[in-house]
Amino acid sequence: MSMENVSSLKLMFFGAPGAGKGTQAEIAAKRYAIPTISTGAILREAVAAKTELGRLAAGYMESGALVPDDVIVGIVRDRLAKDDCKAGFILDGFPRTLAQAEAFDKTGIGLSLVIDIEVEDERIIERMSGRRVCSACGETYHTVYNPSVDNVHCTKCGAELICRRDDDPEVVKKRLSTYHSETEPLRAYYEGKGLLRVVHGQEKLEDTTALTVGVIEDYLAGRK
Ligand code: AP5
Repeated sequence: MSMENVSSLKLMFFGAPGAGKGTQAEIAAKRYAIPTISTGAILREAVAAKTELGRLAAGYMESGALVPDDVIVGIVRDRLAKDDCKAGFILDGFPRTLAQAEAFDKTGIGLSLVIDIEVEDERIIERMSGRRVCSACGETYHTVYNPSVDNVHCTKCGAELICRRDDDPEVVKKRLSTYHSETEPLRAYYEGKGLLRVVHGQEKLEDTTALTVGVIEDYLAGRK
């Protein structure tokens, strides 16, 4: 695949919390050399840095609710205006409501593909209990499916791994319920636009990656 094909590859990863959006987005970002814009990661950084945005977002995130649309749309619009997004980008966790999708459409930026990673709720609850994230660089692991070097430290930078506060089982249930009521309807929205491709999340991470890359390569081949 040549870089010419990749230019202006504009992907969105869609799916329930814990479906594997962030994991697949990072893999695709490296493969196609385009940046990932994860609204969740931007918000977590703001919470850790105790900025005004972080103080506003923390309560919503810890209860499993969504951060208000106007705040999120502003964050994404600013991020997409940066130079590194000119050659393409990956949206991870945005849009999550119809209002966000419509606001994004109004920018005229457009999307190449929306990749919907489907995983049943029961498997998600089990997966989230094993998720660990690096306290320094944010790399994501799983104690069983994607372990770090020793399940205690980050393989990449050596810092300590922690559990995300919103991975508490009760918060995960609330996040899943928020997803089903507020975000899942967007699947029909993108299907109607002919952009949706469904990938069934597999037990093995690399099997999901193979399916995801297959969808992207099919798109790039069709664009030649
Ligand atoms: P965000 O960080 O976006 O959380 P999320 O959508 O709930 O998604 P996650 O990051 O939990 O999961 P993921 O699908 O990326 O899965 P991962 O790859 O880590 O948002 C957090 C909060 O911020 C929201 O609740 C909300 O409050 C706020 N927010 C963010 N965006 C917003 C927006 N647009 N509007 C309003 N509010 C917003 O994988 C999960 C685990 O499974 C990992 O341990 C991984 O190693 C493992 N795994 C991955 N794939 C596999 C596989 N195939 N097999 C086995 N294990 C796997």
